[in-house]
Amino acid sequence: MAGADPSDGQWNHSASLFGVTGPRTRTQVAIIGAGPAGLTLGHLLHRSGIDSVILERRDRAYVERRQRAGVLEHGTVDLFRSTGVGDRMDREGLVHHGIHLQFEGERHRIPLTELAGGRSITVYGQHEVVKDLIAARLAAGREICFEADEVSLHDVDSERPCVRYRSEGSAREIECDIIAGCDGSHGVSRAAIPQDAYRVFERTYPFAWLGILAAVPPSLDELIYAHHDRGFALHSMRTPTITRLYVQCAPDDPLDAWPDERVWTELRARLETADGWTLEAGPVLEKGITTMRSAVMEPMQWGRLFVAGDAAHVVPPTGAKGMNLAVSDVRALGAAIAEWYRTGDRAALDVYSRTCLRRVWRAEHFSWWMTSMLHRVPDADAFHHKLQLAQLRYTVESRLAAASLAENYVGYEHA
Ligand code: FAD
Ligand code: PHB
Repeated sequence: MAGADPSDGQWNHSASLFGVTGPRTRTQVAIIGAGPAGLTLGHLLHRSGIDSVILERRDRAYVERRQRAGVLEHGTVDLFRSTGVGDRMDREGLVHHGIHLQFEGERHRIPLTELAGGRSITVYGQHEVVKDLIAARLAAGREICFEADEVSLHDVDSERPCVRYRSEGSAREIECDIIAGCDGSHGVSRAAIPQDAYRVFERTYPFAWLGILAAVPPSLDELIYAHHDRGFALHSMRTPTITRLYVQCAPDDPLDAWPDERVWTELRARLETADGWTLEAGPVLEKGITTMRSAVMEPMQWGRLFVAGDAAHVVPPTGAKGMNLAVSDVRALGAAIAEWYRTGDRAALDVYSRTCLRRVWRAEHFSWWMTSMLHRVPDADAFHHKLQLAQLRYTVESRLAAASLAENYVGYEHA
């Protein structure tokens, strides 16, 4: 990959080729998907003076409202702050210095900050991160095309890859130097790589999470991860007046099997403790079921296509790692692309996948470990249950075991 041409603007090719009826344009980096990965990459590229176009299948209101992650690692917070998109996060985000593990009716605090060298986490909804990044991008005059349909990737193994899509009724094409596949776990980017050019390592879990957003102040000012005979439960929050809660359910449960009353009954049974602590209930604003999977594609790149975030790997949400991994992938990708444009050296781009996969596999292991320790596994025997309790007790009693959890939870930085 030598001598990229950072030219910008309209092309004048024949409009009849490939049925393209709308404009053909050129950019340096075409980014598929306006989730945390795509938006953060666009932001980092802009700061390096590199042009990009983001193509997003959904409309702006949808992506700005989609309820997903809530926990930002220390390094994710630092990146947003140091690149000028952290003002509202600093004002409205809730900085936490500990989390709680609960089992056998007792709650145990893991003092994250004390155990992890002064580092903390920030509770700030993913949709708020998305809003901040979209606002910054539009203020910078960079392009996002919402409601882009039928996105397809072409010639990704050539020096002139392109992306075709439909927008406002016409078929369009963007030629670029690089394509970033940031289109999440149901995206199309990965399909542009021949099936024998990558491998997927995966695991599914025999349970899911039912999540609610409730208009009630959090019942405790920190997160509670609860292991219970009836199944896992999690107490989290979005703001001082909005609580986020999850209960383990079956992956094939229909949503209507979970009327609000049943959700609160299960949450109370799984979260309340013997010492009289109670969970405050309130109006349910949103409810949804998320299935759980671990998956990693290797390598995360092919030709001029670089895959990032959930498009390349997914983790079960128990470790709160997915959004943070998406951000750390594009931090590496943004730096590698900037290096290539600046010097013509593609060494960092060549090792993009290798660079990311170390962190990805650490997070995969941590997320699998938290998930395995905390959930009730259908059909597991009593021996398995005893092992889970032994692991939980060791984690809260041993300072070294607790420190390992803390180091991973706030975000492990490889040597
Ligand atoms: P996405 O957010 O999925 O964004 C991909 C974008 O691409 C979407 O906007 C999508 O509409 C768009 N797209 C898809 N296909 C196309 C197409 N064909 N053309 C154009 N656009 C397309 N992570 C954490 O770090 N901390 C947490 O606390 C946490 N909690 C979670 C709780 C739950 C219940 C769930 C479900 C997830 C949680 N996660 C958490 C994971 C986190 O939400 C994801 O890892 C994160 O969204 C990944 O970001 P992304 O940008 O890679 O993908
Ligand atoms: C959330 O607040 O949505 C959340 C918090 C911690 C997790 C997963 C989700 O592990």
